[in-house]
Amino acid sequence: MTFKHRAIVDTIPAYKQGKPAPAVSGQRSFKISSNENPYPPLPSVQKAIEDQALDRINRYPDMSGWQVVSRLAKDYEVDPAEIVLGCGSTEVITQLVDLLAGPGDEVIYPWRSFEAYPIIVSGAGATSVQIANRPDGGHDIDAMIAAINSKTRMIIVNNPNNPTSSSVSDADARRLMKAVPSDVIVLFDEAYIHFNTDPDTSVAMKLYREYPNIVVAHTFSKAYGLAGLRIGYGIAAPDVAAGMRKMSIPFGVTQTAQVAAVASLEAKDELMERVQALIGERGRIVRALRGQGWDFPEPYANFFWLPLGSKTAEAEARFKAAGLSTRVFDGEGIRISIGEKEANDKVIEVCQTLKDDGIA
Ligand SMILES: Cc1ncc(COP(=O)(O)O)c(C=O)c1O
Repeated sequence: MTFKHRAIVDTIPAYKQGKPAPAVSGQRSFKISSNENPYPPLPSVQKAIEDQALDRINRYPDMSGWQVVSRLAKDYEVDPAEIVLGCGSTEVITQLVDLLAGPGDEVIYPWRSFEAYPIIVSGAGATSVQIANRPDGGHDIDAMIAAINSKTRMIIVNNPNNPTSSSVSDADARRLMKAVPSDVIVLFDEAYIHFNTDPDTSVAMKLYREYPNIVVAHTFSKAYGLAGLRIGYGIAAPDVAAGMRKMSIPFGVTQTAQVAAVASLEAKDELMERVQALIGERGRIVRALRGQGWDFPEPYANFFWLPLGSKTAEAEARFKAAGLSTRVFDGEGIRISIGEKEANDKVIEVCQTLKDDGIA
């Protein structure tokens, strides 16, 4: 149908959700395409939802998200006015872009990176300035600095970067912050921070204390395993946070999500044990693949990146035949999430066959 609409929307790529586990007869199949946490929800989190949220779904949620906000403010030693909630950090990032950038404004970010960035930036009517990653998958900070001009409204750092899983060093982050004008906002998207074991990594909350033009985005979707409930948060200077709240979807964060988030913060130690187990599994996969002769960026998130180039489609077919759904970037490579132990064993096996058969 022909209908009047914003032409820019036609230029926006649709978000591609990671595929579900493929059905392969005789095989147990796994979804390792969306960087989800493979562990089921904690009983304590389920109980909190049952006790505190299920009988209230006829009511709107607390729009201020006070219980989560006050708890996060205490944990991070900031004022509650500095915390903003969103339906996942995707919405937090959207709020920020909507606050900062419109037609004629530029947003600088690394590429490849989180595929929602171009969608969000174009959705706001602003222009994406994509800076190619270094060959090792890391951000090219010098090129990002060189791209700053009077139209720049925002710069995004994704640490660790999705999909390359590479980490941004403290030295690089500081170099960037020194070069950015103090009235230009820098978003540190740290969706995977809990998995980052890089001893040299930047930690945005440390920098935030020095640079008020930093906004930090975190999520409950990954380490906390609440992807299906959609809750994330931003930490920003109070006036930036107030602007972001104006751009938020009213009542977007459900009471169920808020209750689950508080219960998850209370169960943090238990959840971090799971994170440690996933980091252990990541190490096991990396060692096995390096032993097979693979060359890929050292991963610091709950996924790793195989830069397969022209062999990407052939390799994906192998993973699929083994019952594994991976995230494919046509002609570039495959991103693989760290999953259940059995899924990880299969990944290692398929990678060996790719080497044996000269596909990689
Ligand atoms: C880098 C990055 N940032 C943010 C998100 C958003 O996650 P959510 O909206 O579930 O919080 C994702 C999700 O995959 C991501 O990869």
